[in-house]
Amino acid sequence: MTHRASRVYSTEDARLIARRRLPKLIFDFVDGATGREVGTKRNVSQFDNIMLQPRVMTDVAQYSLKTELMGKSYKLPFGIAPMGMCNLVHPKADTILAHAAKAMNFPVCLSSAASTSIEEMARAAGSQAWFQLYFGASAEASLAMVERARVAGFDTLILTVDVPQVSRRVRDLRNGFKVPFSITPKVFWDLATHPRWSLGTLLAGAPRPMNFTDSKGNNTFDRDASRSGADWSFMEVLRDKWQGNLVIKGLTSAEDAHRVQSLGADAIYVSNHGARQLDSVPPAIRLLPLIRDAVGPDFPLLFDSGIRNGEDVIKALALGANFVMLGRPALFALGADGADGLHALLKCFETDITAVMAQLGVSSISQLGADAIFDDNEHKSKSGNKNKDSFTASQKKP
Ligand SMILES: Cc1cc2nc3c(=O)[nH]c(=O)nc-3n(C[C@H](O)[C@H](O)[C@H](O)COP(=O)(O)O)c2cc1C
Repeated sequence: MTHRASRVYSTEDARLIARRRLPKLIFDFVDGATGREVGTKRNVSQFDNIMLQPRVMTDVAQYSLKTELMGKSYKLPFGIAPMGMCNLVHPKADTILAHAAKAMNFPVCLSSAASTSIEEMARAAGSQAWFQLYFGASAEASLAMVERARVAGFDTLILTVDVPQVSRRVRDLRNGFKVPFSITPKVFWDLATHPRWSLGTLLAGAPRPMNFTDSKGNNTFDRDASRSGADWSFMEVLRDKWQGNLVIKGLTSAEDAHRVQSLGADAIYVSNHGARQLDSVPPAIRLLPLIRDAVGPDFPLLFDSGIRNGEDVIKALALGANFVMLGRPALFALGADGADGLHALLKCFETDITAVMAQLGVSSISQLGADAIFDDNEHKSKSGNKNKDSFTASQKKP
């Protein structure tokens, strides 16, 4: 597929253009978080505190971003995080993500709260798609959704465990964001002043959750329902029934990670949900090295929360992740410029990763380890000034 030139040269560009183009209630749904939204900013700013150590005079002309994960080989070390209701930012956003995932060979996660059905996503993305499960109305209803994913051909299941209860998101409450929309005068004005988005969305059909069903098989989704059924015993049931790859998403504690590993998960997805659930959660990147230490060097770790550019991807890989997932940046790019915006942003990530690897003197992803991180501690300890905020990964990943 050919792509038109886009004005997206960075996540920041994509965010600003999306903020103009999308109705406020849609932009805020993506951009917003819980509480005073300190946690989400901290996720991003923590990356600025991490510095990389350039190395010179290595021949890096031949390089590869190929990354192995759970028995598969991907062309890039990053994929797309599960996000519900993506089609709100652009008509057929999930399908656009699916096509990009196929063309560039990276994984894309379909959320249970997606506005695209499990079956349609399997057709669009084939084996590039992973399915993310939110615990539904009951264990039976949740396992029925998993069975649907199996029949559709999904081989990787992500169980999200950090939403026992949906946290209050103030922007959504102020804007009257609901799924499906209730058209209050305020919402009407918001949509009417963004005619391009409103017409496009109207023509494509208003997005609605496509995967949760009630006992009569009708599509229904209670966004505020408790998901606390995703507990340790449910994980054991799931491990027993699901033969494919099982990934547990939303871990921030080394103790929890250790337990998940011992219960037979194939990978852990370190994430604080972009601080959409807890404002005071530590930045996920600070927790990654601790979790790497807890699970040992060989256990697959995925990472998201705060990734905004290629340098961030490299930092997460160097600090112990095997694979990195993009959340809000992908939706900003789609909201800014549809498939062209997404393509442009993904190319920025790919190009930046390549350039940063060259700066670090490495030519393959597997060469990235703790030595890529500039260790402030080492330098300051020599002068007797230890910096508590510095980052180290004591164990190299595989
Ligand atoms: C609009 C939106 C919807 C999301 N929906 C889901 C979801 O359905 N399931 C899930 O596991 N995580 C969901 N997430 C969390 C993302 O998977 C990811 O953890 C988060 O976006 C990472 O933070 P970042 O985007 O700031 O990097 C959602 C995030 C956003 C922004």
